[in-house]
Amino acid sequence: MHVNYYERLWMWGAAVIIVVFLGLTAIATVSQGRLPPSNVETIDPQTVFSDPRFTPQGLVENANGDLEVRVVAMMFTFLPRELRVPVGRPVTFRITSTDVMHGFQIVGTNGNTMVAPGYVSQFTMTFEEPGEYLIVCNEYCGLSHHNMFATLVAGEEGQ
Ligand code: CUA
Repeated sequence: MHVNYYERLWMWGAAVIIVVFLGLTAIATVSQGRLPPSNVETIDPQTVFSDPRFTPQGLVENANGDLEVRVVAMMFTFLPRELRVPVGRPVTFRITSTDVMHGFQIVGTNGNTMVAPGYVSQFTMTFEEPGEYLIVCNEYCGLSHHNMFATLVAGEEGQ
């Protein structure tokens, strides 16, 4: 079958781009351990506020010394709306929703996950530089979706 020269050129160009992107994804996965956040853990969205996994909310230090940040996402806010974490220590974010699908994105970082009602989303990251970060909901969740944000301050411990 005859394929026009330019059409063939475009097809091969597109194929090369796909191969390059897949290759870069594979390299990032293997050499830098970049994986999408994954944690399968269920929770009853109606009893989040009496569930010990989410009371209290905010930063907690577990018995083994690990830092955990618990956040409840709901139309149209995050609880708590201001977070403080120390720099240089791994922090595990645990987030759930009481109503609909939300997002949790720490702008300018790799911290980004969907937040589904009935599930606990989780990822761990370390803030190396002190600073203030914006957290936004990046899943359309209703009329006030654009007002759904929080702030996070990474600072030296004890400040
Ligand atoms: Cu919550 Cu958009």
